[in-house]
Amino acid sequence: PLIFVLNGPNLNLLGTRQPEIYGSETLDDIEALCAETADALDLAIDFRQTNVEGELISWVQEARSHAAGIVINPAGYSHTSVALMDALLASDLPVVEVHLSNIHRRESFRHLSYVSRAAQGVICGLGPHGYALALRGIAGILAQSEQ
Ligand code: DQA
Repeated sequence: PLIFVLNGPNLNLLGTRQPEIYGSETLDDIEALCAETADALDLAIDFRQTNVEGELISWVQEARSHAAGIVINPAGYSHTSVALMDALLASDLPVVEVHLSNIHRRESFRHLSYVSRAAQGVICGLGPHGYALALRGIAGILAQSEQ
């Protein structure tokens, strides 16, 4: 099964962006970790990043007909985008939301994620490893739905 791994704004800057919060690993490092994890789980991934809200929404719509599940780090749009939440709700796919940082430990405006309302599971605070856990989560959901 193909899983879309979608990344929102500013995640292209990982490695140099506030490393005290987001760590020193780059998005390429995270993609490599996801590819390795997917391989072990017999999943295929399509790993993408955009700074544009509408593009994320179009990719979620594309996932409806092309993917079996979505792992998404919506970054700043987590806290603002009703439209992204709506697209995910419409997708009818298992969705796992990931944040590198623990959003609940940070500023109060980060405590609410609209996207969480469309997610089966949410992982935050574990850095890049959260992406690997999210893929495992999706694999588990898919295995269960096959039974
Ligand atoms: C983030 C947390 C968001 O609050 C923030 O806007 C990001 C990254 C994370 O991965 O920790 O850009 O999604």
